Amino acid sequence: MSGEPNALPQADIDALYRVVAERRDVRNGFRPDPVDDATLTRVLAAAHQAPSVGLSQPWDFIVLRDREIRAQVHALARRQQDVFAAQLPGARARAFGQLKVEAILDTPVNIVVTCDATRGGRNVLGRHAQPQVAAYSTACAVQNLWLAARAEGLGVGWVSFFAERELAAVLGLPGHLEVVAYLCVGHVTEFPPAPELVLSGWAQRRPLAWAVHDGQWGRRGLPGQPPARLLADTVAAIRPLDAAAVAQARDRQEALTKPSGSLGQLEAVSVQLAGVAGECPPPLPEPAVVAVFAADHGVHAQGVTPWPQEVTAQMVANFLASGAVVNAIAAQAGAEVCVVDVGVAADLPPGPGLLPRKIRAGTADMTAGPAMSRAEAEQAVEVGIETARDLVAAGNRCLLTGDMGIANTTASAALIAVFTGADPEQVTGRGTGIDDETWQRKVGVVRRALARHAADPADPLGVLAAVGGLEHAALAGFMLGGAALRVPVLLDGVIAGAAALAARALAPDVTACLIAGHLSTEPGARRALDALRLRPLLDLELRLGEGSGAALALPVVGAAARVLRDVATFDSAGVSGEKE
Ligand SMILES: Cc1cc2nc3c(=O)[nH]c(=O)nc-3n(C[C@H](O)[C@H](O)[C@H](O)COP(=O)(O)O)c2cc1C
Repeated sequence: MSGEPNALPQADIDALYRVVAERRDVRNGFRPDPVDDATLTRVLAAAHQAPSVGLSQPWDFIVLRDREIRAQVHALARRQQDVFAAQLPGARARAFGQLKVEAILDTPVNIVVTCDATRGGRNVLGRHAQPQVAAYSTACAVQNLWLAARAEGLGVGWVSFFAERELAAVLGLPGHLEVVAYLCVGHVTEFPPAPELVLSGWAQRRPLAWAVHDGQWGRRGLPGQPPARLLADTVAAIRPLDAAAVAQARDRQEALTKPSGSLGQLEAVSVQLAGVAGECPPPLPEPAVVAVFAADHGVHAQGVTPWPQEVTAQMVANFLASGAVVNAIAAQAGAEVCVVDVGVAADLPPGPGLLPRKIRAGTADMTAGPAMSRAEAEQAVEVGIETARDLVAAGNRCLLTGDMGIANTTASAALIAVFTGADPEQVTGRGTGIDDETWQRKVGVVRRALARHAADPADPLGVLAAVGGLEHAALAGFMLGGAALRVPVLLDGVIAGAAALAARALAPDVTACLIAGHLSTEPGARRALDALRLRPLLDLELRLGEGSGAALALPVVGAAARVLRDVATFDSAGVSGEKE
């Protein structure tokens, strides 16, 4: 109780919060009985009381009952569903096939909410600088309608599977009107207890603490609470494998209809997955997503690679156009590819699948000074943590590491040398395939960088700042973020190995959630995996990066989970076990 004299009676306050919490987007379980005119009018009146820019009231409501028009609208929505489904990776496409995304013909009435951004003429107060606020105002009307409908026991489903102009044409709208919402309205048998997309596992609700910033964007914190410390809080949330789930998974492996141990490393992966999730059998690692962290390197100036730096940005465009190797392998494995610009030395045009999170336009040359500041290293780690959070909130159950950055095997070699104590010669590889002379130079460059910085492996942010890359720092954060949310992180090659060493130095238990996808031919990769005590799943002499090896290993991880879940036990199948 606030004690505020202007507050409504407590019962009204409770009712308001209840209707906000119990409002649902409904697509299933509509009853055929009509919505009476008086109820419909009350709900529309609530919509009409919405706030609007300059009181311009840009909305209109078309109450649509005609089945013929609705059938045409339904056909439009179906077409867009097909378009959407065709672009989805395997696991998502299967999940989408189970979802119902419209109830256009199942409801007794549809309501189209339009926006007239010209209403009120030139001098609408507050609209001159942002014409789009007319549509925002209309969305406020939709929300009022939605809440009132919930209070009245009416379900509302908002359908946006339309090319808006096609829909406007079918509805015969004047050209200046925009369709803001297409709503399917009717009585329901019940309201789902949570968003249907949550119940189906498609996506999750983000905690409030992730969404509230104190005074400045990025400084997260709930009112009155100490500000969240993203890195420290993430590290604090990381735990070892769940011992009970591990024990259960081991017992179950022994009970499956196969000789004990006959699935070799697959059994270990299944046990690890159970320990990560804290349940046995563990969830399948799908949907899965490859996050390709892209950044440039100042050390490129030292001639460590024959490839020009522009290739980083050009390859980002290639990933976004689905033309790279990782796209092909991810498509085969049913995983999504998204690209995170954490430090590409070029302005990248926005596009679907690109997360613009640039900390700086490439690192500085580590042989001349620190690659980046300590604050930048921490910011890049935080980009990785947030990327992991957002991708898990979007419904992903397995995170795959990817990277793109011309010269990033040089930074990887330096990181691995610092964290493992290896000599630069042992961990510096030929990257994209350099000749002996370039390799000698590269080893020398790593040696000089190490000598210059004398980085302390017990200070991982300091190491990343001195000789790391922005993508290494972000990848370390990505691993920490996944581990904090108990989601397995499947590693690609040497860049991921270097980043994992940094992640482990920040949070030793992070390795519980890491699975090494493959063994790269880069010498530093084996060194890193040995130090991390991770055993690679595949050894196919890959050295591409991008996340290609992680994507290739994904079906192996999927098979490990599926075996533990689906294979019958000796008892359940009535198969005799080995004689004692
Ligand atoms: C602008 C907007 C468009 C939406 N479009 C669709 C849609 O086309 N199909 C669908 O099934 N749900 C659609 N939804 C519903 C959301 O998926 C739903 O609001 C979200 O999952 C949260 O669930 P809840 O509304 O039950 O809390 C839309 C919601 C909004 C706000």
